[in-house]
Amino acid sequence: MKKRVAVLISGRGSNLQALLDADQDAYEIVLVVSNVPDAPGLERARAAGVEAIALDHKPYGKNREAFERDLDALLVERKIEIVALAGFMRVLTPYFVNAWKGRLVNIHPSLLPKYPGVSTHARALEAGDSEHGCTVHLVVEEVDSGEILGQAKMDIRADDTAETLAERVLTLEHELYPRCLADFARSL
Ligand code: GRF
Repeated sequence: MKKRVAVLISGRGSNLQALLDADQDAYEIVLVVSNVPDAPGLERARAAGVEAIALDHKPYGKNREAFERDLDALLVERKIEIVALAGFMRVLTPYFVNAWKGRLVNIHPSLLPKYPGVSTHARALEAGDSEHGCTVHLVVEEVDSGEILGQAKMDIRADDTAETLAERVLTLEHELYPRCLADFARSL
């Protein structure tokens, strides 16, 4: 049986697109939720015939858990088995992370455990690294530090900038995420 997947986004949704375009033989994306109402990724979902819902976090103010409770209710209602974060720009509270423990995955644009958090490409350059890449991992309470499900690497070139690195890493992400999500779905 294919695992029912929800993808959470906040923006462009190019990783969502890669997950939609891949051969979904182990998973099926049945729901896309964005906390940003005009995220372009919502249109990508609709174009693929997938239910797309905007759940704006702003009306919840500082009450992150109230937002997450409504999000959780939606996921449970749609019988979601795996939640895939793809450019979802909200830090999740322990409440949500624990509710979805072992079924919540993320893609991060660095070779974790190097460079959790933001500005990963600039930090790899500043450190003089010779290689860089991306990681698919399980989400735990501590940001960007759960079990690693897969990584893709590439060499950093002498003339690379943060922008060129971001562009090449993104291409790797689009190949890595569908593969890792499929393997993960089969392992459950
Ligand atoms: C990607 O670089 C991903 O690794 C990071 O956020 C970005 C999302 O891009 N978590 P997109 O919305 O999938 O195009």
